[in-house]
Amino acid sequence: MHFPDSVRNLVLVGFMGSGKSSVGREIARRWGFRFVDTDATIRQQYRKSIPDIFAAFGEAAFRDEENKVLQDLQNSLHAVIATGGGIVLQPRNRHLLRALGLVIWLTASEEVIWDRVSRNQNRPLLQTGNPRDTVSNLMSKRSPLYGSVADITVETSGLTHRQVADRAVEAIRVWSTARNEDHN
Ligand code: S3P
Repeated sequence: MHFPDSVRNLVLVGFMGSGKSSVGREIARRWGFRFVDTDATIRQQYRKSIPDIFAAFGEAAFRDEENKVLQDLQNSLHAVIATGGGIVLQPRNRHLLRALGLVIWLTASEEVIWDRVSRNQNRPLLQTGNPRDTVSNLMSKRSPLYGSVADITVETSGLTHRQVADRAVEAIRVWSTARNEDHN
C-alpha cells in the first residue's frame, strides 16, 4: 500500500514505551520514507543522552528543543516522524503535529507500558520514588492530549513491532478510503 498522496508525513504519538520509534522505523523502511525521531534529533544536537540533557539543562530546555525540532520539520515531505511522549504537552506543538500530516496514536494498556518502560533507566520523568504511580498519573493526564491530535489510534498491547506496523498500514488504508468516499 502507498501512502495517501494528499498526506505529507506520518507522525507517531503516544506514551513512553508505546513503540513509536521501532514501529516508525519499520513503516519508513517499508515505504522507503525518511525516518525522523525527535528524541534522537535532540540527542544528536546536544551530543548527550536524554537523561543527561534533563540533568544538565532541565526539562524546560528539552521541551523548547522539542518545539524547535517540530518547527524545523514543517517543510518535510514523506517522512515518518516518531515523537517523544511529552511532545503533546505544549498546545503550540499540538498544532505543529497536526500540520505535519497524518497522526497515529499508538496505545497500550498501563500494565504493558509499565512492563516495557521498567526495563531501562533512560526516562528521566520516571526516576521518581514510585515510578509505577508516575506512569499511571502521566497516562491519565496525557491520554486526552494524544487523542486530541490523532487521526487514527492503533492498540499495540501484546503485538510485535511488525504486527503494529501491519495494523497501522491497514488503518491508514481504511482511513484514506473513508476520506476519499467523503470527498466524492
Ligand atoms: C518523555 C518521553 C521520552 C523523552 C523524554 C520525555 C515524556 O520519549 O522524550 O524522556 O515526557 O514522556 P519516549 O516517549 O520515546 O520514551
